Amino acid sequence: MSMNLYERIPNNVNLSGDKRLQRALEKWLPNYLDWWREMGPDGFQDKEVYLRTAISVEADGWANFDYIKMPDYRWGIFLKPADPNATVGFGDNYGMPVYQEVPGEFRNALRRIIVTQGDTEPASVEQQRELGKTCPSLYDLRNLFQVNVEEGRHLWAMVYLLQRYFGQDGRDEADELLQRRSGNPDKPRILEAFNQPCDDWLNFFCFTMFTDRDGKFQLAALAESGFEPLARTCQFMLTEEAHHLFVGETGVGRVVKRTAQLIKENPHADVRELGAIPLDIIQRYINFWFSYSLDLFGGEISSNSADFFAAGLKGRYKEQDNYTEHTAANENFMLTVVEDGQLRQREVPLRNALNEVLRGEYVKDCERAMTRWNKSIKDAGLDTELYLPSTRFHRHVGEFAGHAFDVQGNLITKEAFESRRAEWLPSFADREYVRSLMHPVTEPGKIANWIAPPAAGIKGKPFEFEYVRL
Ligand SMILES: [Fe+2]
Ligand SMILES: [Fe+2]
Repeated sequence: MSMNLYERIPNNVNLSGDKRLQRALEKWLPNYLDWWREMGPDGFQDKEVYLRTAISVEADGWANFDYIKMPDYRWGIFLKPADPNATVGFGDNYGMPVYQEVPGEFRNALRRIIVTQGDTEPASVEQQRELGKTCPSLYDLRNLFQVNVEEGRHLWAMVYLLQRYFGQDGRDEADELLQRRSGNPDKPRILEAFNQPCDDWLNFFCFTMFTDRDGKFQLAALAESGFEPLARTCQFMLTEEAHHLFVGETGVGRVVKRTAQLIKENPHADVRELGAIPLDIIQRYINFWFSYSLDLFGGEISSNSADFFAAGLKGRYKEQDNYTEHTAANENFMLTVVEDGQLRQREVPLRNALNEVLRGEYVKDCERAMTRWNKSIKDAGLDTELYLPSTRFHRHVGEFAGHAFDVQGNLITKEAFESRRAEWLPSFADREYVRSLMHPVTEPGKIANWIAPPAAGIKGKPFEFEYVRL
């Protein structure tokens, strides 16, 4: 019986020893599968895909590669093994034993964090549902599906926490995670970036580059949480997330490289006639996804962030490695804010600025990728660069929402913004053009014209490998 259960829901949380949780998850499982069939990748459910599956957290178990049909993927529940001596790593309870149950006064807030994180996972699968039909290569198709099944597993991870630690409320929330739908006006996903359409591959690569990367920083901040089950869950999710970010960063990079290469070979031709994506369109996609992803970090000044840090629930990025002082109680942080129609500096207690501190780490990580992309433009001998817009540009959350800024971050009028919108953000025509390039290439070893092949295949296999059997 327990073997049977393990086959169905691989786990390292002793599921067979917790009957109530087991019942809740077994009830949720068929609903999850219904959701996957309805909202998972359209048109490929019966195809064999060369996927990695986590069957344990050990080094030899977390990345098992084999052909599998997606509905047969074994979505498991894995937490990084516990450290019996773990202590709270920051905040007012620094150095005390970690919490094994949810601290009562933070129950609602913590449930909200878990639900919000959990909601993004199925949302992204829904956003990407049609993309398989226009894949640039079998390699990319396989990567899309790998990301999709793992986002499904991350949903499982959050549902485990809800069902195990939050009683009936948690079970209700777990059900609702399968009921909201990305972009649905009546029951949308919680965060706006997850209601944006992701209907072409440039969008997909930007999404996995910029929006999944927000996930990396949120998970990292929770991976050192004093609520130990949450910390251990997030630590394991981060191992999978690294591949998603790789798909995004190298995906955008390969598009940039291909465009630069074609311009170099045909210096007098129109990029569009060469069938590539112009760099200015790529720049507008970057502006769009970067700005929406910055919103996901929350307001610049936040009492929630202060409360969470104080309680030892959500820390800074690499709190243990990057900081020596872990209470952040007596420090201040200088922020830029809008006051009386002008940009001003304001000093706030550091704990209230932790969303902004985390956002700053994220921006640094994006800049690193940007440098790589620009190198391939430079290598092609072109005298142009891609850039990240100012963190004030096109914001819908926090201090800068409701004001208009140019890409350098200068405060401008809303009229001035609107008159330059098409210069800075993807227009309908841009999206139409990108979509016009999206034709499926499914022959092993072949690739669409608008993107460069990857530097290497998956798990030591060549690019020509049949990553998906169609
Ligand atoms: Fe995820
Ligand atoms: Fe992800």
